[in-house]
Amino acid sequence: MITVWPAILEKNPHDIQQRIDAVAGIVSEIHLDVMDGDFVPNTTVHDPAAIAALDWKGLKVSLHLMIARPELYVRQWALPSVSSMVVHREAVTNMEQMIKLVREVDKQLAVAINPHTSSYAITDYLDQLAFVMVMGVEPGFAAQGFNSDVLDKIKFLHEQKPQLAIAVDGGVNLQTKWPILAAGATMLCANSYLFKADNLIEAYHELRSTDRTSS
Ligand code: DX5
Ligand code: ZN
Repeated sequence: MITVWPAILEKNPHDIQQRIDAVAGIVSEIHLDVMDGDFVPNTTVHDPAAIAALDWKGLKVSLHLMIARPELYVRQWALPSVSSMVVHREAVTNMEQMIKLVREVDKQLAVAINPHTSSYAITDYLDQLAFVMVMGVEPGFAAQGFNSDVLDKIKFLHEQKPQLAIAVDGGVNLQTKWPILAAGATMLCANSYLFKADNLIEAYHELRSTDRTSS
């Protein structure tokens, strides 16, 4: 079973709302890119109050926190629509503390690793995570090419813990999904592939399909 999360990366709340409106009714959960201009060289809406004020139409949000020192902001981001918080291993100094903080606000925790971060940076924590997220691109921008070197990391993590859910974010499209799925990931985050498609609904169903003859 494959999960596809539309990834929303926008600089103003109005544009986020437009994306929400476009996918509500198609999916039940989205991936929201939160960038502070510090951990990554780009900025999106990163004010929890502005996100809370949007009309989420019942959608759940997996929050991709590309921010420095995420441990300082866990409470502010524990909004009702947020189901999981994805923090970057590269941004967290104390993983045990992060696990505790997210547990306290009753949200799921996932950890993302950049293309050049070793899988060994997270192997100690796999039992305590809802899922892991392997970045297929350097975080910061949409519409970059998928770095196929990360496939080995997906395979390695899958072998370490086969029941662990693995998400991939960045560069996901109808071509890259096959090696990603073969490596053991089951959750795909996609921004430009979906939102630049002529037909968003069709594109979503094609990405979710595991029928190779249809793509
Ligand atoms: C990159 C973001 C991704 C991005 C994906 O820093 O974390 O979620 O929106 O964009 P595409 O699917 O276009 O690579
Ligand atoms: Zn993302």
